[in-house]
Amino acid sequence: MQIDRCYCFQQTFAALRALARAHGVQDLQGLQQHVDVGLRCGLCHPYIRRMLRTGETVFHTILTEADEPA
Ligand code: FES
Repeated sequence: MQIDRCYCFQQTFAALRALARAHGVQDLQGLQQHVDVGLRCGLCHPYIRRMLRTGETVFHTILTEADEPA
């Protein structure tokens, strides 16, 4: 299993990390000011938070809100 994107909006975490770095974005809400992402099911939210915190863009385990709380 490999999780590497917001599936609802087909935005890879690698592309989102580049966007976040280019704009100095540090949280999901800041990212959403630049791109439509995470606005449907929300399952990508903990992955995006982890990506913003650590720079990881590919995940092999399930993350929940408890793993990366808002
Ligand atoms: S996977 Fe990101 S909103 Fe559904």
